[in-house]
Amino acid sequence: MNILLTGGTGYIGSHTAIELIKAGYKIHIVDNLSNSNIDMLDRIEKISGTRPEFTNLDLTNQKDVKHFFERYNDFEGVIHFAALKSVGESVKMPLKYYKNNVVGLYNLLTAIKNHKINNLVFSSSATVYGTPEILPVTEESPIGYTPSPYGATKQMCERIIEDFTSSLATFEAISLRYFNPIGAHDSGLIGELPTGTPNNLMPFITQTASGIREKLSVFGSDYNTSDGTAIRDYIHVSDVAIAHVHAIRFIISNNENIHHKVNIGTGIGSSVLEIIRSFEKTTGIKINYHLTDRRAGDVEAVYADVSYAKELLGWKSIYNIDQMTKSAWIWEKALRNL
Ligand code: UD1
Repeated sequence: MNILLTGGTGYIGSHTAIELIKAGYKIHIVDNLSNSNIDMLDRIEKISGTRPEFTNLDLTNQKDVKHFFERYNDFEGVIHFAALKSVGESVKMPLKYYKNNVVGLYNLLTAIKNHKINNLVFSSSATVYGTPEILPVTEESPIGYTPSPYGATKQMCERIIEDFTSSLATFEAISLRYFNPIGAHDSGLIGELPTGTPNNLMPFITQTASGIREKLSVFGSDYNTSDGTAIRDYIHVSDVAIAHVHAIRFIISNNENIHHKVNIGTGIGSSVLEIIRSFEKTTGIKINYHLTDRRAGDVEAVYADVSYAKELLGWKSIYNIDQMTKSAWIWEKALRNL
């Protein structure tokens, strides 16, 4: 069964490629390599024993997308990762984000329609909930205001998929709303590759530990939480990857005309200080950090109700926080030759 992965050389895409190959799927990756490296294919091959088919494709180029699907038209389903994901950059360059994330999806759906592909798994985000009023967050929670263009693109893409699904009797989609994916593959061969100064907590911690950053700023210590720092639902990237295998298997075998939305988290909230302590415990390295002001736009606490993922897809996470922080460090060490 042939599955198309857009953005398959990226952080979550590459981990998913490995899990799909392990599960027996044939995959074809398309990526424009704007935020990833072609050597990812060697790494996927090394880990899984299979080299995925690859085409360098920019989804915002409608002509190229059309040609690609004319050439390759045997896809049973599509998993759509290709998108830009830096919250801060999206505020500075909103048009870049709307073009890449929204126009990219538009071109992909046009091809999906023309080639009668019936199954789509979409990379969404917990950011669609904005500031949730009730915790844990269920899929029934209202879509809230998201201050960043990045968050707005995820909301818009979900809406487009919703309307697209309603318009085609045989089409089914699943939007996976990821909470905070962190960590790296057990092999230490693939992981997150942030460009420039990381915005996210985990790569900032590993880069502080490896000496690239001098000090970690903990944003906010006056939240109404047990230790005053903000709470998130961190989930190991391989757990997120396996969720995609469950999702694509589910929609291919289930012929319903529905757009499902599913939370992908562990259901457990951890504070920033708990993540730092876990990292220090599993690696034996002290993190140089200081408590600073809250970061604009940050929410006090967000964690998932994950019961629907279990019910619909038969999936739940396996890795705990210590395994997540440890794997992140193994990857960082390999990357920096430490
Ligand atoms: C953000 C995005 C989310 C995106 C995710 C992964 C929002 C609302 N959410 O989540 O859509 O999917 O990134 O790309 O924009 N922190 C520090 N010091 C740091 C970095 C972070 O204390 O140097 C804290 C933050 O204040 C936050 C927690 O660590 O409390 C997690 O931050 P981060 O990793 O950036 O993820 P989110 O902001 O939760």
